[in-house]
Amino acid sequence: MTSSEIRQHFLDFFQRKNHLIVQSAPLVAKNDPTLMFNNSGMAQFKDFFLGNGTPPAKRVADTQKCLRVSGKHNDLEDVGFDTYHHTMFEMLGNWSFGDYFKTEAITWAWELLTEVYKLPKDRLYVSVFEGDTKDNVPFDQEAWDLWKPIVGEDRIILGNKKDNFWEMGDTGPCGPCSEIHVDLRPQSEVDVQSGRELVNADHPQVVEIWNLVFMQFNRKADGSLEPLPARHVDTGMGFERLCMAIQGKMSNYDTDVFTHTIKVIEELSGIPYGGSQRDYPDVAMRVIADHIRAVSFAIADGLIPSNARAGYVIRRILRRAVRYGYSYLGFTEPFLTKLVPTLAMQFANVFPELNAQRDFVATVIREEEAAFLRTLENGLKLLDKITADLTQSGGTVIDGETVFELNDTFGFPSDLTALIAREKGLSIDEAGFQKALQQQKERSRKDASSATGDWTELNDIDGVEFLGYDQTEAEARIAKYRKVQNKQGTQYQIVLDRTPFYAESGGQIGDTGRLEVRVGDQTVLIRIADTKKENDLIIHISNDKNLEEILDTHSSVLAKIDSSRRTAISDNHSATHLLHAALRDVLGKHVGQKGSYVGPDALRFDFSHFAKVTDEELAEVERIVNEKIRENIPLDERRNVPIDEAKNLGAMALFGEKYGDFVRVITFDPAYSVELCGGTHVPATGQIGLFKFTSEGSVSTGIRRIEAVTAERALALLNEQQATVDQLKELLKAPKDVLKAVQSLIDERHQLQKKIEALESEKLQQIKTDLLTKVRASNGHSVIVERVEVPSADALKQLAYDLKAKVDNLALVLGSDINGKPQLAVMLPDELIKGKNLHAGNLVKELAKEIRGGGGGQPFFATAGGTDASGLDRALAKGRELLEK
Ligand code: ALA
Repeated sequence: MTSSEIRQHFLDFFQRKNHLIVQSAPLVAKNDPTLMFNNSGMAQFKDFFLGNGTPPAKRVADTQKCLRVSGKHNDLEDVGFDTYHHTMFEMLGNWSFGDYFKTEAITWAWELLTEVYKLPKDRLYVSVFEGDTKDNVPFDQEAWDLWKPIVGEDRIILGNKKDNFWEMGDTGPCGPCSEIHVDLRPQSEVDVQSGRELVNADHPQVVEIWNLVFMQFNRKADGSLEPLPARHVDTGMGFERLCMAIQGKMSNYDTDVFTHTIKVIEELSGIPYGGSQRDYPDVAMRVIADHIRAVSFAIADGLIPSNARAGYVIRRILRRAVRYGYSYLGFTEPFLTKLVPTLAMQFANVFPELNAQRDFVATVIREEEAAFLRTLENGLKLLDKITADLTQSGGTVIDGETVFELNDTFGFPSDLTALIAREKGLSIDEAGFQKALQQQKERSRKDASSATGDWTELNDIDGVEFLGYDQTEAEARIAKYRKVQNKQGTQYQIVLDRTPFYAESGGQIGDTGRLEVRVGDQTVLIRIADTKKENDLIIHISNDKNLEEILDTHSSVLAKIDSSRRTAISDNHSATHLLHAALRDVLGKHVGQKGSYVGPDALRFDFSHFAKVTDEELAEVERIVNEKIRENIPLDERRNVPIDEAKNLGAMALFGEKYGDFVRVITFDPAYSVELCGGTHVPATGQIGLFKFTSEGSVSTGIRRIEAVTAERALALLNEQQATVDQLKELLKAPKDVLKAVQSLIDERHQLQKKIEALESEKLQQIKTDLLTKVRASNGHSVIVERVEVPSADALKQLAYDLKAKVDNLALVLGSDINGKPQLAVMLPDELIKGKNLHAGNLVKELAKEIRGGGGGQPFFATAGGTDASGLDRALAKGRELLEK
């Protein structure tokens, strides 16, 4: 069975069991402060377990792109060294949202594995939760009773909280789980030792393939468990491991999920893949085959390698791959980028987003690789110097701080430093390195730390209703609130059952405003400084103090947004859509949105495009946008459009965004701009008034950024520019043609400059003639020591050279005060240099002491500058004395 067939059988099986098949969510998690990447199939459904939203169906199945490289689940350092861990992997999952529970989850899992995939029953083991007294959760008798008739008691293993109680993160939905493990060892080994003993023992051929989680609890911030409103099933099967089991391989990397990529790596490096667990070239090939997937799909989902948060995680993964390729496969030029096409083709039917942006992804990777390869080379040079210095001073151990610095600044992993050190007979202080690393982690943890309290529940609600497309104020009930302690102080986060406040998303900034509470015959205001999303909750953030009293005792509020601010935001949001369409018209259809900011003050739009946008192109885009504004195109807003219908309308969806089955479509003229969008917009484009660019530039490889202003801000910008022009006209006394006036000023300046130069050269000529009359003979040399008036240090030098050309055996010292800055020039004849061993540089240094300065030059000519012009005559006197001696 090929991997594609294996995946398809899974989806078909659960479709037959009445599951709705959904799309994978993007790798990068959105709107969930507890999660950077989707690390399991259930992450996109978290809300449905918590009761904060309604699932598209009670039974759902999919394959989800997962990344386990940060937070609670982090496998990064294992990847490459073993045969079954990955950074990115696919998780096949089936879910019941308050529908079926353990019986169906267990029997279906068994049916699929043994009847569809035909895995041998005597090679499968299952585990059941043994219970935990601290959490007060009992032994999972129900799961045991269900498994017993299927697999027999001797194939059931009891597992503790670590293995058999699944939690998504430090907080959130969780519950006991039952894992299915498969023993893939050769029969000869099985005969000697039972697979039962190897379950959960990190054996590469006795591995967990499927985890069936029975979601029953929510882990709260204080560590306690509370029962969920309903019971759910969340399962996750490691696709790559399943392929290994079904295809009868000993390693995930030997399945057709990876062999295509490994083949390209073999071709590029000229080294065959041996599959060994220890040989570094083999480890490197696995690292690369794994990491290229994580990096490519993350970029296809909208992430760009950077120095912050998720972007940094991707950068580190990419660098780990480059480093392994560089050290063990001899890749000194970008190579990862060449793996992208193979990967894109392989997944074109499952995750088409990569194939659709293949060139873009390959370019971003290529640039990032090239930059890191340069860093690696510099790091190597630095390390060479460090080891040489160390050897010279008789040391043998590179200290931990240095190893850490190499790691931190050059992305130079400690094991590479250790390896290179070993080659030179040195070692590294591993403990010192770990300490420095720990200290840095501590620092960044402190920087980011915030303590989030548990929710205080006030009123039961069925989800949150957003009213902000139609209303700017609304009566609402307070559902719950919590306190968050962070660097800025204490914050209150308040959830209402309905609200006109738009929560920051899709680039559009959150609304501000106020909640009005009636207290007796008075109105108390709670100021809302920002609005954010957390999964499906809309969170109103207030920095006001001591709100408990009022929140605990009042259940309803009048929620009002700052509507003039919102108007400005909507102007900018609609203008962004017009801009996006105009850019595609002018630059080409490759332009795709890569990020945006829509605020009341301005808009920013990042998009894929590989060249600078020329002034002509910019002017054309701006012209089109303003034309569309003047056309006053009415907004066509459609809510709850089935996603397929929206796509048929030609709606532009963004890669890396998660869309439900029903979407909102924003159209300004069906032939011009149709986008999937949750933001707020103008009723008709005329409201935007005016659109003006303020800047265009590059953000990173292949991504350009445009900034612009609209409406009043655009007018203010034009007015400012007009005022500058008016002032110019007045200054230049040119009420009509200010450009002409400026041009003639420039021309005049050029002419004057020429005149000055002519005069100066005339004057220099005069000085030269004068100096020639002042040559004195001394000991067979011609000596000139004089103070002259020249316009620049260059002129002084010119003068010295001109005199040398006219006078034989010239020994000269010239001094000049050039606009308060004393300058000296010394010229010596050959004879004095060779015969008396004199050096003009030394002489000028000596003289420069008098003018409090310094200088130097060649044996025959040197100059010096100083800070004290009053010493010029002393310097010259000293020069004369020395030369005449
Ligand atoms: N959520 C469970 C896991 O990731 C299925 O293992």
